[in-house]
Amino acid sequence: MGETTEEAGYESIRIDRSGQAEAFDVIGDRYDEAFPYKAGQVSAGKFLAETLDRGSRVLDLGCGTGLPTARQLSDAGFEVTGVDLSGEMVRLAREYVPKATFHQIDIADLRPGGPQDLGRFDAAVAFFSLLMLPRAEIPLALSTIHHLLVPDGLFVLSMVEADVDDFTISFLHTNIRVSGYIREDLIQVVEEAGFEILDEDSYTYAPAISDVPPEEQIFLRCRRTG
Ligand SMILES: C[S@@+](CC[C@H](N)C(=O)[O-])C[C@H]1O[C@@H](n2cnc3c(N)ncnc32)[C@H](O)[C@@H]1O
Repeated sequence: MGETTEEAGYESIRIDRSGQAEAFDVIGDRYDEAFPYKAGQVSAGKFLAETLDRGSRVLDLGCGTGLPTARQLSDAGFEVTGVDLSGEMVRLAREYVPKATFHQIDIADLRPGGPQDLGRFDAAVAFFSLLMLPRAEIPLALSTIHHLLVPDGLFVLSMVEADVDDFTISFLHTNIRVSGYIREDLIQVVEEAGFEILDEDSYTYAPAISDVPPEEQIFLRCRRTG
């Protein structure tokens, strides 16, 4: 693999996942009820479906229930692998998208030299999953994604625009910790991790459940450079 765990930059960080998987274990299907309109994800999936060859390997990081993305990408003829920290999300994804393969894995464990090796992918998506990491880990997760992609591999990222770091919010009657950036800073972090940004979309989103406030969602379509 070339790089050691130390080189991957995690050695100076204490990884704290307390409560994060448990929250999504409890949320389960309610996540899709709260966020029923997934135009950004669907449009990004269509971009991959139109760009990649059938049979391409695609990784869905923080796949949630597998809907709509893992299913859309599977239906497009790709070999889809989904990973999620939450055992319940992985269970639902396996039920909803039997053609794809799902693993209960922490994104951090996919780092170069880390305990999990899923091989290389032609494309990766991370829809609203990197925002579950503290800011100190987001550039490391982006480097991991760079490492998991073939040269020129595609990456689609979505985040909520917010200037917060490991900030506790009440979400669907549980507490989760989230991070984010203002748009310009997000673009800088993504470019510094070795990605060229091909296109960008944003959506103002009012979730269907009232304890989640409206949010600005940013979707970046990127290509691995270097
Ligand atoms: C906000 S949901 C998004 C789900 C899906 N990508 C979508 O857009 O519908 C975030 C997902 O990331 C997962 N997640 C959080 N931290 C993770 C980590 N460190 N590694 C892998 N998955 C993680 C959560 O369990 C949850 O399913």
